[in-house]
Amino acid sequence: MQKLVIDGGVPLEGKIFLHGAKNSALPILAAALLCDGKTVLENCARLTDVFAACHILAHLGCHCMIQEHMVTVEVKNLRSDSIPEALMQEMRSPVIFLGAVLGRTGSCQISYPGGCELGPRPIDMHLDALRQMGARFTIHGGQLDCVVSEGLCGAKIHLPFPLVGATENVMLAAVLAKRRTVLHNAAREPEICDLAYFLRTCGAKIFGDGEGMIVIDGVEKLQGAAYRIMPNRIAGITYLGAAAITGGTICLRGMDAQPIENVLLVLEQTGCWIYPEPDRLHLLAPRRLRAVPMIQTMSHPGFPTDAQAIFMAMLSAADGVSVFEENIFENRYRHVDAFVKMGVKIHVSGKIAVVTRTRALSGTSITATDLRGGAAMALAGLAAQGRTEIHQISHIDRGYETMETVP
Ligand code: UD1
Repeated sequence: MQKLVIDGGVPLEGKIFLHGAKNSALPILAAALLCDGKTVLENCARLTDVFAACHILAHLGCHCMIQEHMVTVEVKNLRSDSIPEALMQEMRSPVIFLGAVLGRTGSCQISYPGGCELGPRPIDMHLDALRQMGARFTIHGGQLDCVVSEGLCGAKIHLPFPLVGATENVMLAAVLAKRRTVLHNAAREPEICDLAYFLRTCGAKIFGDGEGMIVIDGVEKLQGAAYRIMPNRIAGITYLGAAAITGGTICLRGMDAQPIENVLLVLEQTGCWIYPEPDRLHLLAPRRLRAVPMIQTMSHPGFPTDAQAIFMAMLSAADGVSVFEENIFENRYRHVDAFVKMGVKIHVSGKIAVVTRTRALSGTSITATDLRGGAAMALAGLAAQGRTEIHQISHIDRGYETMETVP
């Protein structure tokens, strides 16, 4: 089993180039299924979830090729509308293929997704939205069968919560559907806009992405295109955090401030100095970070849940008391035990976690619990006195391309 071994206490200094966002690449790979001809995706990170999405596309009958950071998908004759359970389990969010497979073939069979390390992963709101577009679902023996008897049809849909995955599924189902779809309370994450840009490049008619209401007029067909995936903002936040927690300096190349302004404001509260330039960001950290009174995770443009563990690591090394409120996932404090083992005082009650630094973090042996929790443990290890060993780093590899040797 691979592990990360970190000898902490050294300020990080340097430049990092950010590869493409996993959370953009996955729905865009699903979207490639809707396009005729060839789609070429540049700046696609070499991550296990991206490889898993390519396995699913190949199983469905696409010709899929990965060369360094470029993925080519060619749709010729699809030979399947079902995704076997083994492939579903290879990635965390395979349900993103539901809207695309339905849009392309009019039917889809997948195993019903179970929970994950962040708690239950229900898909009720995805199914409700697709039902309004004419899809019918039967669930038997852990299998979800979906059919659309007369083709998907545009609808007025209101999401009870601005869900990222459900917004993407509706967009994917709607681009080739008959008539207009109006999606109210849509998620506004930058990755939603990236999916919309890609679909527009292929000929889709989508308006309002990045706002609460997205309007999609169905078109007859989409043509594959070349597209560059947006930089991974969460990886960017992680590396800014790594420099911040060690009192270092960093230049993130390939990243604008705008998609992470919500997080940069909080970084400034910790005492970091941020200097944005077009296509790059500089961070200069103080010797010791300051606590932040309250961080509440919210849908975009609020503070992202994916950055909660990263900031908990940073604030475990900060002077004062910091409070977190996790509002998106039920079970997203599993990294807390590792920080407590490293010497931090953390009290969790439901959605709330109160973090108090009592002494310097000390290196120890810990186990990654999930993707961002594992990355946060690496940050804590960088700031700790002595050696930290992190086990089960396959979690980290799902979202960070060779974090230990990043160019
Ligand atoms: C996406 C991101 C993930 C991020 C999350 C933030 C990808 C591949 N993943 O995940 O990194 O942390 O957005 O929102 O882009 N829920 C329901 N019913 C549903 C669907 C979801 O109750 O039908 C709940 C989930 O249990 C979860 C919350 O809503 O608690 C967030 O779900 P969603 O926004 O859909 O997240 P993902 O798309 O899974």
